[in-house]
Amino acid sequence: MAKQTKSFVCSNCGSVYSKWQGKCDDCGEWNTLEEEQASVSGSPKGLSKKKGRTVDLVSLDTPPVEAPRILTGVGEFDRALGGGLVPGSAILIGGDPGIGKSTILLQALGKLAQKGEDCIYFSGEEATAQVQMRAKRLGLTGAPLRLGCETSLRDILTTLDSGKPPKVVVIDSIQTLFADHVDSAPGTVTQVRVCAHELISYAKRKGTVMLIVGHVTKDGQIAGPRVLEHMVDTVLYFEGDRGHQFRILRAVKNRFGGTDEIGVFEMTGGGLSEVTNPSELFLSDHNSQEPGSAVFAGLEGSRPVLVEIQALVARTSAANPRRAVVGWDSGRLAMVLAVLDARAGLGLAGCDVYLNVAGGLKISEPAADMAVAAALVSSLAQVSMPEETVIFGEISLSGDTRGAAQSEARLKEASKLGFAKAIVPKGKKSITSDIKQEHIAKVSDLVAIFIPDQLD
Ligand code: TYD
Ligand code: MG
Repeated sequence: MAKQTKSFVCSNCGSVYSKWQGKCDDCGEWNTLEEEQASVSGSPKGLSKKKGRTVDLVSLDTPPVEAPRILTGVGEFDRALGGGLVPGSAILIGGDPGIGKSTILLQALGKLAQKGEDCIYFSGEEATAQVQMRAKRLGLTGAPLRLGCETSLRDILTTLDSGKPPKVVVIDSIQTLFADHVDSAPGTVTQVRVCAHELISYAKRKGTVMLIVGHVTKDGQIAGPRVLEHMVDTVLYFEGDRGHQFRILRAVKNRFGGTDEIGVFEMTGGGLSEVTNPSELFLSDHNSQEPGSAVFAGLEGSRPVLVEIQALVARTSAANPRRAVVGWDSGRLAMVLAVLDARAGLGLAGCDVYLNVAGGLKISEPAADMAVAAALVSSLAQVSMPEETVIFGEISLSGDTRGAAQSEARLKEASKLGFAKAIVPKGKKSITSDIKQEHIAKVSDLVAIFIPDQLD
């Protein structure tokens, strides 16, 4: 017989406790424990004697029946997915409120519907009229897209089961759904988990693509336990600055393609438009040869992207100088500053330091170290970077420089955008490129470009 027991689940990490407590011991978050009604079997010793079904086992080299990927026609969206939607897969899209999750999904689905695919959009957040108005604004009124405004999981599944399984279904959002057999409010851990499980198993059973929108918490994680990220095949994050028009769709988990692949969009009055050459966007006015700016030849997924890095170093008499970073890791900045101090003798301890990655992009590559160092030294010395020059490379704690992956691709992109010179780390392998290269072995050599009489 099933027995009802209470347990408490952390909405941040998914840890389970038998008693309520203020802080989750596993992830250290406060006030994240939520009550969950779980029914456990009366005999905990194992599964009951009820007969199961024998599973058909196949050998590894049996050729899989591979369904072709579905291309949505929104190129940047397909790119972030690693080349289109995989039938039967579940995809989670997270992002801040108002960043454009509903817009991109409506656009992608509209395009698919125009191509003749059967698609359904379930909105639990907006009323039919609101979605229709948005579709009108996006120029999708003629698309044969089916729309449902519903929050009940049972009704959604009944609707899906009533006809031929659609190719693609959007659920906007998982936090608004509720399963009536679970005794907790919509948006709680239990509800989110149960609803996601039911939807994903429908997708696997019928070969439908399930696109699920998930809200993120204030620290940027998808609300509900991490379990949700483990359950789906692909997790995409929609990032961007509200102050900027640019939006970046980033794959952080993908069972069918590479991660860190990005799609770049621009929010316009008529929806999201694709940006096929992001470098031009992040470099908007790199011609301004001001001290404190360096052009970093970066790599996002498999695509090279040139980004301008801006630094401002200002002397201060405050005991605790300010360190402010936008778009890069502040720990990494502290490390670069410490290396510049220790290995090149720059007295940065008495300076305020501000660092900004232009265009609202977030960079996580260590290869940006040298570009950051160049921008900092350039600002400190009030000497501009050499003209038409890009830079990349990692800096180690010893002050040596280290190479970065796909150097050729980075320089090719720079050459395409009219750069003539590159400052690169001195490595064992030479980089074949038509760009003139300056090889730097130590961070002190980099400093010497801006401050020639600096002693190391
Ligand atoms: P939305 O897709 O509703 O965000 P989310 O689903 O992630 O919460 O995006 C809403 C924002 O996008 C809103 O602030 C207005 C802006 N927007 C435009 O600028 N142009 C447009 O054509 C549309 C549809 C939205
Ligand atoms: Mg929305």
